[in-house]
Amino acid sequence: MSSKQPVTVIGLGPMGQAMARAFLDKGYRVTVWNRTASRADALVEQGAVRAGSVEEALAASELVVLSLTDYDAVHSLLEPAARALTGRVLVNLSSDTPEKTRAGARWVAEHGGVQLSGGVTVPPSGIGNPKSYTFYSGPRSAFEAHRPTLEALTGTDYRGEDPGLAALFYQIGMVMFWTSMLSYWQAIALADANGLTAADVLPHATETMATMPNFLSFYAQRIDAGEHGGDVDRLAMGMASVEHVLHTNADAGVDTALPAAVVELFRRGMKAGHAADSFSSLVELMKKPAA
Ligand SMILES: NC(=O)c1ccc[n+]([C@@H]2O[C@H](COP(=O)([O-])OP(=O)(O)OC[C@H]3O[C@@H](n4cnc5c(N)ncnc54)[C@H](OP(=O)(O)O)[C@@H]3O)[C@@H](O)[C@H]2O)c1
Repeated sequence: MSSKQPVTVIGLGPMGQAMARAFLDKGYRVTVWNRTASRADALVEQGAVRAGSVEEALAASELVVLSLTDYDAVHSLLEPAARALTGRVLVNLSSDTPEKTRAGARWVAEHGGVQLSGGVTVPPSGIGNPKSYTFYSGPRSAFEAHRPTLEALTGTDYRGEDPGLAALFYQIGMVMFWTSMLSYWQAIALADANGLTAADVLPHATETMATMPNFLSFYAQRIDAGEHGGDVDRLAMGMASVEHVLHTNADAGVDTALPAAVVELFRRGMKAGHAADSFSSLVELMKKPAA
């Protein structure tokens, strides 16, 4: 008989399945529930217990991990079962906005439970690896009490009591992830239009991305000091460069939505009088909604 606390996992998409498997591999008693019941089959074969309902899944363990598409999905599942939330610690690893995360935490508390919010920073293949990490926020006592169990999934990075903080840190990563990956798709489309494969450009693409940490730390210090001087780079130079990028893509006959959006931001910076400043001055524009 395992001395480890029992765990429930609700939501068995690729992520929830990887989490349930990681708990099983480490000897936890795992109860699972998913809207499409067949997605639990393989886990049940590996030793998980299939709950017959959301209520049963909540009743099976004090610690309940939620891995759903978003908080709307969470609410549509939990609202009819709200009475079963009393005394539960819900580790909500579904992504959404910090505001929705905070509202979710309030709703859980109103029903006698505690929500720990989380943002997983790795794909399902990174679950079970202690070098991966997940942001958590919410009541510190609940986090500390369950940290050893949560470490079966990934390393933990606790950001504070505000339940929105884990979602905020997650979204900060995601804004960079999605736009960086789109820039890569753009590069591959441009390469393809010129007879090159993704493999052909991989070494150059990898090297380009590998230079980014240096840029991040260089500009972080200057931005925090409010320095946007044009001693290293000037927005006017960047303006010419991003126009070259746009025209190269247009000449190749590929989609130009992404490079055109970049040009538009640079243009706004020029219009705002930043031509002689660093292109980091764009961050000041981006702190406000576009006029
Ligand atoms: N996959 C990744 O690489 C990754 C990485 C980091 C974070 N995340 C986050 O982790 C969460 C789960 O990821 P995933 O890839 O497993 O997501 P997913 O493929 O969207 O699966 C999510 C689960 O949500 C359930 N679901 C969705 N809408 C529902 C509803 N209205 N009622 C009941 N159940 C509903 C699905 O049930 P059915 O099986 O019945 O459809 C499925 O079990 C997401 O918030 C995602 O953003 C994912």
